[in-house]
Amino acid sequence: MARILLGVSGGIAAYKALELVRLATADGHAVRVVQTPASQRFVGRASFVALSGAPVLVSEFERDPAHGAFPDQSPAAHEPFSHLELVANADVYVIVPASANTIAKLAAGLADNLLSSCALAARCPLLLAPAMNNHMYEHAATQANLRTLRERGAIVVEPEVGRLASKGEHGVGRLAEPARVLAACVQALAASAAGAEGGAHSAGSSLHGLRVLVTAGGTREPIDSVRFIGNSSSGRMGFALAQAAQARGAEVTLVAANVALATPAGVTRRDVVTASELALACEEEFPRCDVLLMAAAVADFTPAAPANGSSRRPSASVWSSCSNRRATCSWGSPRSATTARRWSASPPSTAPMPSRSHAASSPPSGWTRSSSTTSPARTSASMSTPTRSRSWSPRSARTRAARRTTSPRRRSNTCRVPARRRSPKRSSTPS
Ligand SMILES: Cc1cc2nc3c(=O)[nH]c(=O)nc-3n(C[C@H](O)[C@H](O)[C@H](O)COP(=O)(O)O)c2cc1C
Repeated sequence: MARILLGVSGGIAAYKALELVRLATADGHAVRVVQTPASQRFVGRASFVALSGAPVLVSEFERDPAHGAFPDQSPAAHEPFSHLELVANADVYVIVPASANTIAKLAAGLADNLLSSCALAARCPLLLAPAMNNHMYEHAATQANLRTLRERGAIVVEPEVGRLASKGEHGVGRLAEPARVLAACVQALAASAAGAEGGAHSAGSSLHGLRVLVTAGGTREPIDSVRFIGNSSSGRMGFALAQAAQARGAEVTLVAANVALATPAGVTRRDVVTASELALACEEEFPRCDVLLMAAAVADFTPAAPANGSSRRPSASVWSSCSNRRATCSWGSPRSATTARRWSASPPSTAPMPSRSHAASSPPSGWTRSSSTTSPARTSASMSTPTRSRSWSPRSARTRAARRTTSPRRRSNTCRVPARRRSPKRSSTPS
């Protein structure tokens, strides 16, 4: 667990910094907080003291009862300079919210309060989560200041688009959700630790220049406007893969099927619901990617004609024999087939995981093969260089079907509806 120094500057979103402290301490991180004088007009220090369990400082001239120590450390015997000791002990320094004024001061290298002095003295990763009115954020001065800070190595957790604090205002400038900011801190820590382990060829940049496409989560196939066939995939595996690839310098696109997780910082996310939407998103992204990681749990079949409204009981044919089968991918070449390469780090494991076998036979009546049968992985992460795509054919299907009848594992994949579900007296609620 890490030592996180949190700087709070003056803006409406300062109250969300409290949530960041709560999340960080709940995850076991040790947190110290410094505030600008202006931020105290939005949130007082008592709340930060209570949540962090440590003194909160505003001025570099006030005494620190903890002598610059984090809650997991013993205080130094002497009285150190707070602006030096706090950042020397911190693993990461994150400023939430970062006001336009503070961003400008940091870009100019000013050190006129404790928060900005700490930023100048920090050798650990520096993260900024800007939050302000959209005109302030889009102003050329703010953008130039952010550019300057990025060029110096600061990580900017981009604000979100949405409703802003001032009445009727909408646009870019909402503070990133605290969970996203914390994820960015963890990611920065991982990248800095990886970077410290090796030189130019460290894991921190081992995927630099590569474009990685990741699928995650579980698709849902509507039976009618209320019910769907789905699965309980959380998407955690795919999100961890995306985060790890991004931390190693890759440009990552994440196709997320029904995932309720925060997007890893620096990752481009596309949300999808059904298998065909997932297939479409992948087909669009695939030509630009070097590496494809398929961690989504994708439906094999989709109802041929989903009912309108809510049918009381799906037809027996829908439920009587729904098997986990899939055909495969027949996409073209990736952006650069020669640069496509296997994943070689953990997570995931060093060896690529085997794809599931690809069975195919006629779908049950009322069902059609899902157009996303492009994904060979089901619940486990599978690495595939896009050049190794396979095509479904009736002949290979027969072979696989034969294999399936002799394999207990395959047989266990067949799902059957419990007898009582077929009872006409019970209404069926499949998902
Ligand atoms: C009600 C109110 C809300 C404000 N909200 C923001 C804000 O969200 N973002 C911002 O950059 N400045 C905001 N400001 C302006 C800052 O508080 C002001 O620039 C201040 O000098 C920032 O000081 P600091 O960067 O030292 O904390 C707000 C001011 C007021 C009065």
